[in-house]
Order: sequence, then C-alpha cells, then structure tokens
Amino acid sequence: MRRALIAANWKMFLNRESGTQLAMALAKKTADVEDRDILICPAAPLLSDVSAAIQGSRIQLGGQNMYFEKEGAFTGEVSADMLLSVGCTHVLLGHSERRHVFGEDDTLINKKVLFALESGLKPVLCVGELLEEREAGNTEKVVHRQVVKGLENVDALAQITIAYEPVWAIGTGKTATPEDAETVQAYIRKTVADIYSTDIADNLRILYGGSVKPDNIGGLMAKGNVDGALVGGASLKADSFYDIIRFT
Ligand code: 13P
Repeated sequence: MRRALIAANWKMFLNRESGTQLAMALAKKTADVEDRDILICPAAPLLSDVSAAIQGSRIQLGGQNMYFEKEGAFTGEVSADMLLSVGCTHVLLGHSERRHVFGEDDTLINKKVLFALESGLKPVLCVGELLEEREAGNTEKVVHRQVVKGLENVDALAQITIAYEPVWAIGTGKTATPEDAETVQAYIRKTVADIYSTDIADNLRILYGGSVKPDNIGGLMAKGNVDGALVGGASLKADSFYDIIRFT
C-alpha cells in the first residue's frame, strides 16, 4: 500500500515570522498524525527557521527549486548541499511556475532531478498540461513527454514522487474532478510501468495538485491513483492545511 503524502508549496508567500509561526502551529497540530507523511516547502530564506520550528515533529522539509551544479558562480540559485544543510529531505522540481513563468524545459528539469538524487534529496517531479493543451486533446502526450524526459537516466525511482498539477487548475479555484485526476494519474502510472516495471510503478506515489481544499480532498483521495496532494493556497493557513492532512 502506498502511504499518503500531503505536501505544502508555500510559493513566494509568507516571511520569516509568519512562516515560522505557521510551521510551529502545524508541528503542534500534527503531533498525532501517524498514518501519512507531511511535507512543507517554504521559500529558501525561510528554510532555516522553519526547519528549527518543525524539529522533533513528523513534518518533513523541502525546497521549492534547486540548481544542478554542486556550487559556483550562479547568482540567485540554491544548491542541493544548501538545502540538505538546513534539513531538507525533498525538493520540488519542474513546478508549472518554473516551467511557464521562468521558462524551464524538460532537459533542465531532468538535470536537476538527476543532481538532486545524486545529492541525496528526494525530487517531487511536477508535471501537468496547459488549458490549451487539454482542449486540443494533448493532455496525455504532454504529460508523457514531461514524465519520460524528466526521468531520463533515473534508476532510483523509489526516491521519486510525481505531482500531477494541471496548469489550468493551479490557483484558479478550478479543481480537476476526481475522475480527471484519476484518468491522468493512472496514465502516468502506466507510463512509469512501461519504462520501469509494474512493481516500481505500483510503489510510486503520485500526488494531485491544483486548487486542493478541505472540501475536495476527500473525493480526490478516494481515487486509486491519487496518493496525496500538493497544496498551494490552502496550505498557507494552519487550519485549512490541517483539514486537508486529516481528510478522513
Ligand atoms: P493551488 O493549491 O494554490 O492551486 O496551487 C497548487 C500548486 O501549484 C501546488 O504546487
């Protein structure tokens, strides 16, 4: 059985003080949550303080992005070693905002995935189609390309999580229906089974992201191929994120 993972992507929200407060509140609220994993991904300048705030709790920490070089003259970038040194276990890679606002392509994202794995971080590889791609009937084609290229030369699939985030559902209040999510996520699992094996695909966690809220998480999680959620807006308040974590 795949264990549920509920992850928060704080994006470019909160600051040192409000982020630390939220992290402390979540650490306290989730003390009794033992049957699922919880991950929070604050912006880089908040990581150190958030890490201290969740010390001893069940919450895991992730970066929102990372560069694929060990170190060097890469102004503005964050390295795997920096993330590890503040207590991160995970890193989001290929988020739709990285792809579509900052122009990251599958080749760059693949380099990051490989370097994260080599460094001991667990990548959460984000994939998902644009509205026009969905309307043109290209959802599977796009997601297939993002999965295949994102995972090129990856053999340690046990360290990988995939997050399916249809771009048209992110921050728009338009959640994919549980059926939409299930269809694409089953397809992602089949894609992984074709490249690796059914066994490996069966153990892979696939999250859904895009306007997840306390009132729609139950329907999504009821689907066989939805193993958790990657939550943006609703993860910025302790109560709503806790209600999502405690979907049943
Ligand atoms: P929202 O939950 O705000 O739609 O964001 C989803 C997301 O992009 C998580 O990575």
